[in-house]
Amino acid sequence: MSNLNDPVLPGRGATDYERYLRTDELLALQKTPGEVVHRDEHLFQAVHQSSEIWLKLACTELDDATELVRQHRVSAATRLLRRSNEAMALITSHLHMLEHMSPLDYAEVRTALGHGAGFDSPGFRRVHKSSPLLGEAFNALLAGRGVELLDVYERGYELDDLYQLAEQMITWDERCILWRFHHLKVVERIIGGNVIGTQGTPVEVLGKRIDVRFFPELWLVRDEITRRSKLGADGHGTE
Ligand code: HEM
Repeated sequence: MSNLNDPVLPGRGATDYERYLRTDELLALQKTPGEVVHRDEHLFQAVHQSSEIWLKLACTELDDATELVRQHRVSAATRLLRRSNEAMALITSHLHMLEHMSPLDYAEVRTALGHGAGFDSPGFRRVHKSSPLLGEAFNALLAGRGVELLDVYERGYELDDLYQLAEQMITWDERCILWRFHHLKVVERIIGGNVIGTQGTPVEVLGKRIDVRFFPELWLVRDEITRRSKLGADGHGTE
């Protein structure tokens, strides 16, 4: 009888756990203590690398959700988008780890980064490429079902599948904005708000980019609902 502790999977590593998860390769992706200019490079790399892994998952789910929306499989799309939203929340909380790095220590870490800057993050590039495609698929879905966005919010439970999807989409937009906001505060806390980044971008530019909205119509429909409501119409209660 085979020993259940013996590996049966192909690959490197003494156990199937290590072979399946490729922990040898994964744990070799961080610089060794002999290679770093400062010990906090490990913290810096761990936060960035794990963020890229979660963003890869978030965008895979988002892209698959888009395909499901194109096939009019609304509930299945909503289910996947919930995962994307959770992943974005996770990487936002990862940012707190960087608050454990002092400005002086980061000044040394920074000397190892070359011209590396977050603008070149594959994960965030994909967020920017994929999100508008979901918006297009959603608009095509509404058109195909002959409903306006306002109907989704006004006709209540009758259009619940569309409502649930729209709410997950606005959550995605909001969580991306919250990540950018929190990132800016971490940046200000570590390098300051009146300096330039490793690719020459002034930090204040980050502040102007926070409120990018992938699905502006989902935000605007709220204005429309408030305007049409009794309180909005008589000019009160709009604060
Ligand atoms: C010590 C922590 C960090 C510092 C000091 C920092 C600093 C900066 C700065 C200065 C910029 C402007 C671009 C430039 O460098 O010229 C930037 C942009 C960016 N960083 Fe970071 N960053 C940090 C952590 C992170 C983390 C953990 C991520 C996650 C992947 C990240 C992703 C990004 C992205 C996506 C942008 C572009 C933002 C946009 O499109 O508006 N950064 N960062």
